[in-house]
Amino acid sequence: MTAAAGAIRTQVAIVGAGPAGLLLARLLDDAGIESVVIENRGRDYVEKRIRAGLLEQGTVELLERAGVAGRLHEEGIVHHGIHLQFDGERHRVALSDLAGGRTITIYGQTEIVKDLIGRRLDDGLPLLFEVDEVALEGIETATPRVRFLHAGARREIECDVIAGCDGFHGVCRPAIAKHLQFFSRDYPLGWLGILAAVAPSSDELVYAHHERGFALLTLRSPELSRLYIQCAPDERIEEWPDARIWEELQARVALDGWSLAEGPVLEKGITGMRSFVSEPMQHGRLFLAGDAAHIVPPTGAKGLNLAVADVALLAAALVEWFGSADDTGLRHYSAACLARVWRAEHFSYWMTSMLHTFGDPFEQRLQLAQLRYVVSSEAAARTLAENYVGLAGSRLGGADIDGAARRVGPISVPR
Ligand code: APR
Ligand code: PHB
Repeated sequence: MTAAAGAIRTQVAIVGAGPAGLLLARLLDDAGIESVVIENRGRDYVEKRIRAGLLEQGTVELLERAGVAGRLHEEGIVHHGIHLQFDGERHRVALSDLAGGRTITIYGQTEIVKDLIGRRLDDGLPLLFEVDEVALEGIETATPRVRFLHAGARREIECDVIAGCDGFHGVCRPAIAKHLQFFSRDYPLGWLGILAAVAPSSDELVYAHHERGFALLTLRSPELSRLYIQCAPDERIEEWPDARIWEELQARVALDGWSLAEGPVLEKGITGMRSFVSEPMQHGRLFLAGDAAHIVPPTGAKGLNLAVADVALLAAALVEWFGSADDTGLRHYSAACLARVWRAEHFSYWMTSMLHTFGDPFEQRLQLAQLRYVVSSEAAARTLAENYVGLAGSRLGGADIDGAARRVGPISVPR
């Protein structure tokens, strides 16, 4: 097919240059499939946006296969366990011992995005920043299009498939909303996160349950700590001068014989918490991936890992489809993703419910009973560990995939 005057012709139009869109573009390029990525923010903004940074082993392996794990291997920090703290005691959960030797790696999502953007531009492949007025057309036809404004000019991409990787607030999911069903839960919780220029006080992450509210100690490097405290979702960051944040952190993570080192706060922000799933994750020739299709509260650190798992499936299905016109993978894409998504939704909901303070004494006693069980029963600890390091393949449950397939598809792809 030839493109109309002024139009860009490609195989896959990718909306959004977050980890989902950028990694999909990389995987497709490896298979010789052309794509154009459009992003409504500037490069600088996207490369500075601070997000979570905990990678499952499967995510690391995929980034390796995609050829973008060089810096990740140099700077990423491999962890074999986490700590749960409650009732004034800290307990280690030996993730790797409990979950077949699998590990997790600390490496900021921001760094992954930088690595992927660097690679895309080095490869000389199309990635347009600061696009505006993005609109999708012909989704139910074999010739979908994406229109947008770029550098003052109206542009159009003619493609075979659109990948909606534009995050929770993007335009792709709303474009097909009437064909989708949404499931969601809002929590009366927010996380206030800071990045501080101080060596982490704990080598491994500490998830702390405390009557004043949850706190999490994590890190970005041997010199940079990342710390979070539970707050209300509608609190203003101006109400949290640095001294108040440290005071609250100190109170919530205090432990006899251990102290939390403080340092200059480089960044701070508050995010609300939500669980959200779209069923299915496809309509016509538009396939949603990552936050565009689902959101998890950050307690289980699953957001980025789910986005990576989605695009791995989508890339494989597209390779099959472009290569041999076999649309089996595309028709089952949504159901296959949703099996993993719902497992992660449950895990994130469970971790969130177990660790935050909701102001209900009955709930608090239940939480403590559950936490004690997790650190004293190997079976319970293994459940946490397996989910935390990331479930793969059959552990997601064939029945679950079949169930998801019954609920949402298989869905046809317009010819
Ligand atoms: N047009 C083009 N790009 C858009 C549009 C639009 N209309 N709307 C949003 N975007 C861009 C955003 O600016 C962002 O760069 O889409 C990108 C979506 O990226 P993310 O929000 O990072 O989502 P995703 O790639 O799915 O990654 C999921 O990000 O939010 C975290 O916890 C989440 O770690 C998870 C990961
Ligand atoms: C992070 O390092 O930012 C992080 C780690 C674990 C979480 C959430 C965020 O559960």
